[in-house]
Amino acid sequence: MKEEQKTNIEIEKKNDEIEELPPFETTTLWDYSKQSYGKNKKGNNKFQGVTPAFIIWNLIQRYTKSKDLVVDPMVGSGTTIDVCEEENRRVMGYDINPQHPKAIKNDARKIPLEDDSVDMVFIDSPYGNNVNYSNEASDIGKISAEDPKFYEELEKVAVEIYRILKEGKVIGWLIGDQWVKKKFTPVGFKIYQMLEKVGFEPMDLICVARRNQSSNTRIWHYRAQKFNFFLRGHKYLIIMKKPEKKEDETNEKKENKIKWQRYK
Ligand SMILES: C[S@@+](CC[C@H](N)C(=O)[O-])C[C@H]1O[C@@H](n2cnc3c(N)ncnc32)[C@H](O)[C@@H]1O
Repeated sequence: MKEEQKTNIEIEKKNDEIEELPPFETTTLWDYSKQSYGKNKKGNNKFQGVTPAFIIWNLIQRYTKSKDLVVDPMVGSGTTIDVCEEENRRVMGYDINPQHPKAIKNDARKIPLEDDSVDMVFIDSPYGNNVNYSNEASDIGKISAEDPKFYEELEKVAVEIYRILKEGKVIGWLIGDQWVKKKFTPVGFKIYQMLEKVGFEPMDLICVARRNQSSNTRIWHYRAQKFNFFLRGHKYLIIMKKPEKKEDETNEKKENKIKWQRYK
């Protein structure tokens, strides 16, 4: 074998060994043609409603460091678990109907973790009752996005997330709008408002292109044109943080503590 030929083979072999990494996003428009990257699969791309692994990768690059604790209260097929483990983050994944060996069965409205103990939360919640995730009565995906109860139950989840997050730490919430039976429901904006009401501070809003949807077929594109409506082309990734306490609030807390000790 010629020397030059040998080097080419060696380079190709080396390239194969290098893990493919997702693009580090610098704009508010994210678009992925596939669900996962790299040699090892992340989550299960056959799971209906699986999250693109790229989203979680980007969030943890920006908002966490090695060994930080990341929590996903609705982890489904476990994409967050797989991404975090590969990136050397500690991770806890819960779901009402867990589909990953390391996911723990739990209702997201009561998360079994201490207050102020988590470095980042990612959640891709149901967007309404468009997907049948389980037969569990406590599955929030059984409630229509047109029903106020849907937002009340997700607010309970948001309150729990707020409780477990450390001050100044980030939540990423992936959510899509709904257009069903000639009715548009801006689910994303409603969740955004609910998160602000809970106390989170807005940081940014990303549009993630929706691909591989069951409606991405010729017949649905034809219907959208004929009956004058739009197919959902994007989801929102809402990025917010639990605010840090202001200094006077911290001082007030300290003073209260001193008073309490004096009268003990
Ligand atoms: C969009 S899927 C999550 C997909 C996941 N990120 C993945 O990549 O596979 C929404 C998940 O919410 C879960 N879920 C619905 N209600 C829940 C509840 N009350 N507590 C915990 N999980 C719940 C469903 O079982 C489903 O797995």
